[in-house]
Amino acid sequence: MLAKVESAAVVGLTGVPITVEVDVSGGGLPGLHMVGLPDPTIREAKERLRSAIRNSAFAWPASRITVNLAPADVRKEGSAFDLPMAVGVLAASGQFPAAALERTVLLGELALDGQVRGLPGILPVALSLSGRGKRLLVPAANAAEAALAPELTVVPMRDLAQAVRFLQGLEPADPVAEPDVSPAGPFSFVDYAEVRGQGAARRALEVAAAGGHNLLLIGPPGVGKTMLVERLPTILPPMSPAESLEVTMIHSAAGLLPSGFSQITGRPFRHPHHTASAPALIGGGTIPRPGEVSLAHHGVLFLDELPEFDRAALEGLRQPLEAGRVTVVRTQGSCTFPARVMLVAAMNPCPCGFAGDPRRGCVCTPSQFIKYRSKMSGPLLDRIDLQLEVPAVRWEEMTAAGGGESSAAIRSRVEQARRVQRERFKAEPGCFVNGQMSHRQVRRFCRLTAEGREILGRAVERLGLSARAHDRVLRVARTIADLEGTAEIEPDHLAEAVQYRCLDRPVIESNG
Ligand SMILES: Nc1ncnc2c1ncn2[C@@H]1O[C@H](COP(=O)(O)OP(=O)(O)OP(=O)(O)O)[C@@H](O)[C@H]1O
Ligand SMILES: [Mg+2]
Ligand SMILES: [Zn+2]
Repeated sequence: MLAKVESAAVVGLTGVPITVEVDVSGGGLPGLHMVGLPDPTIREAKERLRSAIRNSAFAWPASRITVNLAPADVRKEGSAFDLPMAVGVLAASGQFPAAALERTVLLGELALDGQVRGLPGILPVALSLSGRGKRLLVPAANAAEAALAPELTVVPMRDLAQAVRFLQGLEPADPVAEPDVSPAGPFSFVDYAEVRGQGAARRALEVAAAGGHNLLLIGPPGVGKTMLVERLPTILPPMSPAESLEVTMIHSAAGLLPSGFSQITGRPFRHPHHTASAPALIGGGTIPRPGEVSLAHHGVLFLDELPEFDRAALEGLRQPLEAGRVTVVRTQGSCTFPARVMLVAAMNPCPCGFAGDPRRGCVCTPSQFIKYRSKMSGPLLDRIDLQLEVPAVRWEEMTAAGGGESSAAIRSRVEQARRVQRERFKAEPGCFVNGQMSHRQVRRFCRLTAEGREILGRAVERLGLSARAHDRVLRVARTIADLEGTAEIEPDHLAEAVQYRCLDRPVIESNG
């Protein structure tokens, strides 16, 4: 007898339908055979299937069983097809009526005792089934996540026996909690109030957050660079429900949603180690999975100790940063993951770390120093609007009572500046913040007064700024003006923006 069971696989961030066909026939040698290009892990499913079926008090048919996963050209992996295959074997061997499977999509890994285990990628599958009049049987651990999909009946499954009882109408579905899709509160374990001193760096982070600019902090060890950057999500505006859903999809596809978890509401903060490989940062694999730059979508990608990262890995980040998405090309077609991030990097000023630090002298030779800095003159730096030196905090500041301004106070200014930008870019598709302005948009939205042009002209000459750096200064000046709520970019705004180009200055100067 032949049974057909509907299931699904995830390609990139899209759920695609898969049909599991199970044929149990009298003839031939008993055993299970699989066709339809299955991944080796699906072959391992054989043992799990037989044990799970027997341990759930069903019979393993003593006939030839053929399983086909269609379409053949979709690459399938993992254990998501255990549950549909087991149900298919039971239906095809007459242990329950195949009609019970109508309009039903199943996914789930089986343990040897018949328990249903959680899986990555359930949310993309659930969203692909929205409004199609289907019901989706998922592992109980993934039910909260699946329930985010509108117009879909989600049925949590604990084990194979329960799934079969449910399909036969012998047992009602377990309830699924209504997902909480209220707008996200800010991520709140840390706060800028804890950071002492560092007024200039705090200001630069506020400007970066307000305009969505990429940022590089340069400073000796222990001055609070990591501490400052870790608090960046606390001053970014909350994610919209749509952004939150997108971020949750990416984490679901990467298998990073904790069991029973529904929705990610805090902006992502990703902090990959400098030993991370290019695929780990950018995404990839035989079955493409999102990398760090996509996991940080709508949030912050923090590259601490930037010069330690593999050059090829940094090179690979360039295109995603530019495009706001990553395209992974594979023989079986390509897929795209979103990657709209704020890139923040930190580094020491020199190999020993102490150039310009009054607490301790630098022991690097000029040639070591120049080599270290020139490593950074690469393409990634070209994408960074703000570069700032972070000095050691003065003792009086470190020991003074009370910390700095709270994240909530800073965030309200950031949100105000974001509102101005939303209005500005209403009719500019793909551009939401000043940091994303193209050269054409810079020319249109960053007009200068005669005095402003003169100030900028002098700075360009003094620092030897390139045309690209020139645009970068204008974007940042635009954000500074927006924070102040002025329509015009004023001389003060330009003067401040020019200060955020510290790497454009000749290197010898700062090692003096
Ligand atoms: N400005 C500051 N205010 C309050 N605490 C600080 C400050 N700077 C440093 N600290 C304390 O010192 C610790 C180390 O700071 P942090 O790791 O942020 O330094 P860093 O600049 O990233 O150093 P490294 O270059 O070694 O990575 C922090 O966890 C914090 O406890
Ligand atoms: Mg650090
Ligand atoms: Zn040094």
